[in-house]
Amino acid sequence: MCGITACAGSTPALPFLMQGLEKLEYRGYDSAGVTLVSGQGLTTVKAKGRLATLAASMEGGRWPQTTGIGHTRWATHGVPSNLNSHPHVNETETIAIVHNGIIENHRPIREFLEDAGYHFHSETDSEVIVHMLDYYYRGDMLEAVRKTVRYLDGSFALCAVCTDFPDTVYTARKDSPMVLGQTEQASLCASDIPALLAYTRDIVAMEDRQIAVLKPDGIRLYDFDGKPVQPVWLHVDYDVQAAQKGGFDTFMEKEMHEQPYVLSETLRGRIFQEDVNMPELDFLDMHDMKAVYFIACGTAWHAGLYAQYLFRKWIPVPCFCIPASEFRYGDYPLGPDTLCLFISQSGETADTLAALKEAKKAGAPCVSVTNVLGSSLARQSDAALYTCAGPEIAVASTKAYTTQLVLLAAIVLKLADLYGALVPDRRRLVQDLARMPRVAQDMLEAVPDGISHGAEALKDRHDAYFIGRQLDYVSVLEGALKLKEISYIHADAYYAGELKHGPIALIEEGTVVIALATQPEVAAKTISNIQETMARGADVTLITGQSQNAEGFQDVIRIPDVHPYLAVIPVTILLQRLAFEAAEKRGCDVDKPRNLAKSVTVE
Ligand code: F6R
Repeated sequence: MCGITACAGSTPALPFLMQGLEKLEYRGYDSAGVTLVSGQGLTTVKAKGRLATLAASMEGGRWPQTTGIGHTRWATHGVPSNLNSHPHVNETETIAIVHNGIIENHRPIREFLEDAGYHFHSETDSEVIVHMLDYYYRGDMLEAVRKTVRYLDGSFALCAVCTDFPDTVYTARKDSPMVLGQTEQASLCASDIPALLAYTRDIVAMEDRQIAVLKPDGIRLYDFDGKPVQPVWLHVDYDVQAAQKGGFDTFMEKEMHEQPYVLSETLRGRIFQEDVNMPELDFLDMHDMKAVYFIACGTAWHAGLYAQYLFRKWIPVPCFCIPASEFRYGDYPLGPDTLCLFISQSGETADTLAALKEAKKAGAPCVSVTNVLGSSLARQSDAALYTCAGPEIAVASTKAYTTQLVLLAAIVLKLADLYGALVPDRRRLVQDLARMPRVAQDMLEAVPDGISHGAEALKDRHDAYFIGRQLDYVSVLEGALKLKEISYIHADAYYAGELKHGPIALIEEGTVVIALATQPEVAAKTISNIQETMARGADVTLITGQSQNAEGFQDVIRIPDVHPYLAVIPVTILLQRLAFEAAEKRGCDVDKPRNLAKSVTVE
């Protein structure tokens, strides 16, 4: 997620812009830039990499300008580079903009502007904004902003400056945050409150479809029709760190709560009625494929297991999901007729990259699913598909995983289309996929009592067992991993039917068993397996569907009625919460579990 700062003041703007960008570093970024404006012109400095690189490239310069805009970019369109980083400037170098969000209709706008004689210098969707402002500017910047935002589809928070008004910043928002602040010397704005807190604690959180005009002596707010709006000032009394966590105590909790939004961002433009829109995969001839491999590590490997399950249900081509660290030593047949699909949040995991190298050496078509544009994995694959989870700061993956699940469901549907395979009950599946952001919201809004009970039961235990069959097995693997890594409770995941072949010897009075029975095909059998553990004194929490008979169970959590192949989303959100609450009760640092790194760049 990009970060924006802007200042229209009576003292130099640069110190505010830079400290604000630093406070927004938690949002993640790969390049940064600022534009300062005066009557003499614009001064723009950009740098790929960290803010320190930007600061170093400005050292020794004189920066007396009192108006300016700043930006940290988290790439979504176009790889991280100086050209793609913001601010973007028009050809006469009189207008500059910074943008956060995605302009969905940037292609037709770009074509229109190119026909009108404009030249583009970056691969970004954002650059259309500055040329549109130039196109509409006739001496009134507010009018140019109003006309421009009317044509932008998607989400945006943007700031613009113009040399004709060197004391003014124009800002507008729709579906992307922007906050305003005022001091005696300046009017300020930023993507998030932490950037303002060192200057003021009185802020205005802009509403959707509003434009603000910032001058040193005040801020004016308008709606997109140009009607003045009365700003609503709020007093903020929390500290910077708390503000970065968006009011939550930990990044993990914040990221869990971001799931409804990032799920919808990931699905945006991908599904339409029963169809999947994924032109990136059109180069594949699925009939040529003798085998398909999903390859990943850790939580991302669980996402691969999910994809493998769907693939085997729908497409009659052998399909295997293999941990990346095993893949290169596993003597798997590889060649131009084996499709390799790599899944990695960071796109930098060493094991996954090593597996990709093997696959490429053998001439296998390689597709990656990653959360980071321009990551090594994305760059080295034949096609890259992106989850839109935004930066994930907590070490334990939450929102990155659920966005992988929904994107993989769409990918496997697309592979089925390419193969010409029939997907039973497709309409319901696709409709329910589109509902997943709402379902996630419901799961987060009302945490079932059973989860808190389960967390309480786990608090003083040394171990726990997660059981399930078929797709539920994927969820129990992920639930057990989450519990292990953040609460340090030993957790095992078993196929429910395997329990009686050995592990049941470990079940005794009070053993915590988290049992999933969301798959109608096998739920009754799973229930019998669970009863076997109860007969030995297990403390069972059952997670199941709306219509499953759960007589005799004390702690039953029912997930919303969704296509069984999508039950994995609400179940995962519940199990994330269970691990989170258990870890908190045990006083663990959920954001930074011991011995773990966010990006594992060693094999
Ligand atoms: C667990 C977790 C890890 C990662 C794994 C792969 O919560 O986050 O298991 O999933 O290290 O990382 P990426 O997806 O970056 O390749």
